[in-house]
Amino acid sequence: MKITLNSPLDMHVHLRDGEMLNNVAPYSSKCFAGAIVMPNILPPVTTLEELKAYKNRILKAIGEDKFEPYMTLFFKNNWTYEFLKEAKHFIKAVKLYPSGITTNSENGVSDFKIENLKPTLEAMSDLNIPLLVHGETNGFVMDREKEFGVFYKKIALAFPKLKIIMEHITDRNSVKLLKEIDNLYATITLHHLLLTFDDVAGGKLKPHLFCKPIAKRYEDKEALLELALNAYPKIMFGSDSAPHPQNKKESNECAAGIWTAPIALPALCELFEKYNKLDNLQKFVSDNAQNIYNFKPIEKKVVLEKGEFLVPEKYNNVVPMFAGKKLSWKCN
Ligand code: NCD
Ligand code: ZN
Repeated sequence: MKITLNSPLDMHVHLRDGEMLNNVAPYSSKCFAGAIVMPNILPPVTTLEELKAYKNRILKAIGEDKFEPYMTLFFKNNWTYEFLKEAKHFIKAVKLYPSGITTNSENGVSDFKIENLKPTLEAMSDLNIPLLVHGETNGFVMDREKEFGVFYKKIALAFPKLKIIMEHITDRNSVKLLKEIDNLYATITLHHLLLTFDDVAGGKLKPHLFCKPIAKRYEDKEALLELALNAYPKIMFGSDSAPHPQNKKESNECAAGIWTAPIALPALCELFEKYNKLDNLQKFVSDNAQNIYNFKPIEKKVVLEKGEFLVPEKYNNVVPMFAGKKLSWKCN
């Protein structure tokens, strides 16, 4: 059995930089037509010069593959309309991180008062540039996303024309918000469709399943599955594939991030097939995103074939999700 996906997209990926970029980017460019590239490299991507140079490094890393990296800037609250108008030619979105909440987010936002965010958000709204948000407070780890709902609501209502994408949602309360508020959209990862906190820390601690936001309860996973399997139009696939070197994961201070790039589409096929929903996969991995972002990706047919895929233990120094396990689909 085979399925052909038209221009599958990964709407949230970390491609990193330097040696790591060269190691991981080809696994995104092989099976996807494009991806929204997160700006949390060091230093974060905040200027157009940095952005163009980073895009060139990505293009070099992927070689001949037909793949478009869609660039994002790391949110600053004092950008002018003129700057963003120019930036719009080079970016698909702006990513906002609360300060210190995840990998390389130290220069993020620490004050969510509307007056503080207004100059940038007003201009983004006028220019129709989507705002991508890592929605977590610094409260109790299992409640962080739920608590952030207050800010999602506040920003969405203050800027009703601004497209706000709740990145990598993990909590059933976010599903409720998404359904209530018109200008909220969301990405969902593969791992949050498969894992609960029990898988991460209920038995022996699994560093390679540790990420931000942390996987939550069974009911949360079920709420996400319901959206993804039915390709609810306000959600799209964003892997949040976030590689770290093996020694930074298997460490006394484990870095947050799960690397799923090489297994994402095969594992999604397996999941959608299990629930008899393979017909909805095209929408989840591409069509919904095209509608939400209002764009056309490059034409690329990606064929997935039923057949054993033994996931390598590591790809150089990075351990993927499902390392050493067998998947029942492979990407040709
Ligand atoms: C991401 C990373 O490592 O850059 N980590 C993660 O756990 N998801 C950052 C992020 O998206 O939070
Ligand atoms: Zn991320």
